[in-house]
Amino acid sequence: MSCVGFRTLIASLAAAAMAACTAGSGAGLDQNGQPIGAGGPPPLTADFTSIQANVFTPICTRCHIGAGAPQGLQLDAAHSYSLLVGVPSAEQPSLLRVKAGDPDNSYIIRKLEGGPGIVGVQMPADGPPYLPQATINVIRSWITNGATQAMAANVSPASKMVQRFAVAATSPESNSVVMMARPAIVVAFNHEVDASLVNYTTVTLQKADITQPADPMSSAGTSAQIPVSTTLADGNPTAIVITPRVPLAAGTYRVTLRGAGGGALADVNAQALGTDYSFTFTVDVAP
Ligand code: HEC
Repeated sequence: MSCVGFRTLIASLAAAAMAACTAGSGAGLDQNGQPIGAGGPPPLTADFTSIQANVFTPICTRCHIGAGAPQGLQLDAAHSYSLLVGVPSAEQPSLLRVKAGDPDNSYIIRKLEGGPGIVGVQMPADGPPYLPQATINVIRSWITNGATQAMAANVSPASKMVQRFAVAATSPESNSVVMMARPAIVVAFNHEVDASLVNYTTVTLQKADITQPADPMSSAGTSAQIPVSTTLADGNPTAIVITPRVPLAAGTYRVTLRGAGGGALADVNAQALGTDYSFTFTVDVAP
């Protein structure tokens, strides 16, 4: 799509521009259509920061951004890591979007390569062009090597340590509307979470709007608890994945994390959240 505008240029420039488009297949160009390297991010290497700067931000966030991102998958720098690593695919819940150490069974790789067993279309959804195999292979290497998240350059380990243990991001976002009956609910934190404290007493999902008295999920007047399985994201100990065991009917739901009292949610240094944390989201199921 970004190549169409080039047709208005004079022939020689257009030829050069089209060549650039073809050579990069989209991946070699930044947000402004400039070849990467011309003031853009450094060249693509097999680490998360580089993949974010060269692929996710310039190419994928054209669609995968904001509370209404396709399948809830926001791929901007603030969200992508915690929504990818160890988080089940919405389209193929038996597969993780990124399974650390196993690119073949990482749904993102199947979506980028066009198979096998994908639901929907090859990514980017408006392709071709798709990502060149060389670019996908760099993402494969990052996954093979453990899919780690490089420490943000501007945050020293020491300053990270003194920050209070807190929620960094949630998906769905607070007060957002999702179109999925089984959203992959993710809560990302600023520290690694103590896995032994992640269970049904610290993480709960409830129906928050008991408006219809006939709602079979509710007992009169009280919020109905939804059965969930809750685990630390595989390969990403800073995120919790909450998977509803039943499809969610249309309505509003509240996720609550118990942050105080015995057995409260805490980081690996035994620092508890301090207070309970909750957020709500609304499921809008097509009639
Ligand atoms: C033009 C819009 C668009 C672009 C650009 C785009 N996507 Fe998507 N993506 C979608 C839509 C729409 C869906 C859901 C429908 C489908 O899968 O066909 C989707 C679904 C996905 C899924 C499945 C999520 C799940 O939980 O099952 C993944 C993974 C994905 N995209 C990755 C990417 C990556 C990585 C990029 C960048 C290389 C990208 N997409 C670029 C629109 C886009």
